[in-house]
Amino acid sequence: MTQGKSRVFSGIQPSGELHLGNYLGAIQNWVALTETYDCIYCIVDLHAVTIPYQPSELQDRIYQLAVGLLASGLDPDRCTLFVQSAVPEHAELQWLLNTVAPLGELSRMTQFKDKSDRVDTVNAGLLNYPVLQAADILLYHAEHVPVGEDQRQHLELTREIARRWNTRFGDYFPEPQPLIGQGKRILGLDGASKMSKSQSNTIPLLADEEELWSVIRMAVTDPARVRRDDPGNPDVCNVFSLHGHFTPPAERDEIDGLCRTAGIGCVDCKRRLTANIASELAPIRERAAELLADPDRVWDILNTGAKRARSIASITLAEAYERMGLGRRDP
Ligand code: TYM
Repeated sequence: MTQGKSRVFSGIQPSGELHLGNYLGAIQNWVALTETYDCIYCIVDLHAVTIPYQPSELQDRIYQLAVGLLASGLDPDRCTLFVQSAVPEHAELQWLLNTVAPLGELSRMTQFKDKSDRVDTVNAGLLNYPVLQAADILLYHAEHVPVGEDQRQHLELTREIARRWNTRFGDYFPEPQPLIGQGKRILGLDGASKMSKSQSNTIPLLADEEELWSVIRMAVTDPARVRRDDPGNPDVCNVFSLHGHFTPPAERDEIDGLCRTAGIGCVDCKRRLTANIASELAPIRERAAELLADPDRVWDILNTGAKRARSIASITLAEAYERMGLGRRDP
């Protein structure tokens, strides 16, 4: 731990463009937590290879994700940011944890079932995905894990794995607590399922106003509002719930009233949302453009982060080996 601060760990997959679900569900919280905690954040490329992907694209996806995270406000002087595969202790600890991970629970994980339904052949990595996630967290003895609601089940399993390991080999790993932020489950453009790259329903974080409009204009609103002069119900409209994150309260109240009396149509409501998202995210886009022009700086930050992460992870791994009676290793 840095200067007695308790530790936060979280991870994100390099699975494509960052979207508002990641931003509102996790990254905003990641940034805020750096004020108070010793924060370690990881680009989890080993998780990303459990589903079909293009090897030739993965490095660029990692880089683009690092740019997005730094541009969103992660300050490398106030947190540790690194790429998972640069710290081999993650995969090693996962193996050790596999020996206590309950197979039945792994096969009951909602994300495992969802992902298995979408592939022809289910690989073992997909099943063991949450064990690697547990290794990520436990390697750093993290006490808090900021995530969106969709990760709650994986966190519960991490706690279970820690308990089982501690029971077998002696009290060592803390049971981490999830920190679920305000945007705990951001719905996608369909207004029905979680915003997710795999659902093709995302609003990209780094899009300019024109690109934002091209996707937001397609967003599903109150399904009962069919014609322009039908009154709408903001309580069941996902576009209105996005206003909740980007539109100042007074304007939001105004839109709420106008929607209920058919004083504003869905197109105008979406235009206002687009303008507000574009202006709030403009500084992030600018910082991203600067970072994209300086790849060496981004890779330096990731390499420095990996060194610090490794200095912690290697000690944990050596201690775990020793407690499990495995070959002695120097940290
Ligand atoms: P991933 O890469 O799918 O998502 C990264 C973070 O974004 C949150 N998130 C959302 N939150 C609200 N609404 C949404 N629509 C939405 N979409 C994504 C996720 O909850 C997550 O916090 N398994 C993890 C990565 C991981 C990890 C870890 C997380 C690997 N090791 C250790 C925490 C700790 C995942 O796939 O996240």
